[in-house]
Amino acid sequence: MTNNSEQIKTIFNRIAPVYNQMNDWLSLGQHRIWKQMAVQWSGVKPGNTCLDLCCGSGDLALVLAQQAGPTGSVFGVDFSAAQLAVANSRDRPFLTPSSRISWVEADALDLPFADNYFHCATMGYGLRNVTDIPRSLQELHRVLKPGAKAAILDLHRPSNSLTRSFQQLYLETLVVPIAQQFGMTQEYAYINPSLEKFPIGPEQVALARQAGFATATHYPIAGAMMGVLVLVS
Ligand SMILES: C[S@@+](CC[C@H](N)C(=O)[O-])C[C@H]1O[C@@H](n2cnc3c(N)ncnc32)[C@H](O)[C@@H]1O
Repeated sequence: MTNNSEQIKTIFNRIAPVYNQMNDWLSLGQHRIWKQMAVQWSGVKPGNTCLDLCCGSGDLALVLAQQAGPTGSVFGVDFSAAQLAVANSRDRPFLTPSSRISWVEADALDLPFADNYFHCATMGYGLRNVTDIPRSLQELHRVLKPGAKAAILDLHRPSNSLTRSFQQLYLETLVVPIAQQFGMTQEYAYINPSLEKFPIGPEQVALARQAGFATATHYPIAGAMMGVLVLVS
C-alpha cells in the first residue's frame, strides 16, 4: 500500500464519527436520493450476492440489503476500520434477522473475493478516492459475474462554467466551514483537489472499457455536479 492510500485511510478513520451527519448537512439530505438511484442502476434483485465497494458507514450496502432481501447477501468493503465499525453499529435495527450483510476490511485494489462472484455492485464516492482507478475498475470487473451490473456514484466536474463555479463556491464556502464546525477542516479541504484530478464522465467510460467492461455509460445528475457510471461486466 502506498503512503498516499495510508493518508486516505487516516482521513476516513478520523472523520468516521461525524461522516453521516456531515453528509446530511452538506447535501441537505439529497445524498440519500442519489444513493437510492445508484442502487436501482445496479440492477439488484432478490436473492442476489451484492458488493458495496468503499462502503464507508454503509449507506449503499444497507439499501442493497433491503433490495436483495432475506435470500440475498451483501458484502460492504472498506479499508477504514473506523468506518466499518460505524456501519456495523447501524445495520442491526435496519435488517431482519435473516438478511445477510458482512462488513469486510479490505483494499478495493486487491479484493479478497473469487472471480465472477457477485451479481451486482455499487460504489459511492469511492472511485475518486482510490489511488489507482484503472486497477480498482479491473478488480471490480474481475469479481463481477459476466453480464452483472455496477453503479458508481461520485462527484463530477460539470462542463458548464457557471455550474462549475457554483460547485467550487459551494465546496469552498460551505463544505470547508461546516467541516470546521466539526473540527475536520483539513480532512474536508481535500475534496476540491480530488475532484480537480478526477476523470470526467467520458474519461471514466474509457477507463471502464479498458478495464474490460462490455458497456459503460456515465449519467450526469444534479446539474452534472454528480454522476453515476453504469457498467455491465
Ligand atoms: C467518501 S467515502 C464514501 C463512503 C460511502 N460509500 C458513502 O457513499 O457514504 C469513501 C470511502 O472509500 C474508502 N476507500 C478509499 N480508498 C479505498 C481503498 N483503496 N480500499 C477500500 N476502501 C477505500 C474510504 O475509507 C472511505 O470510507
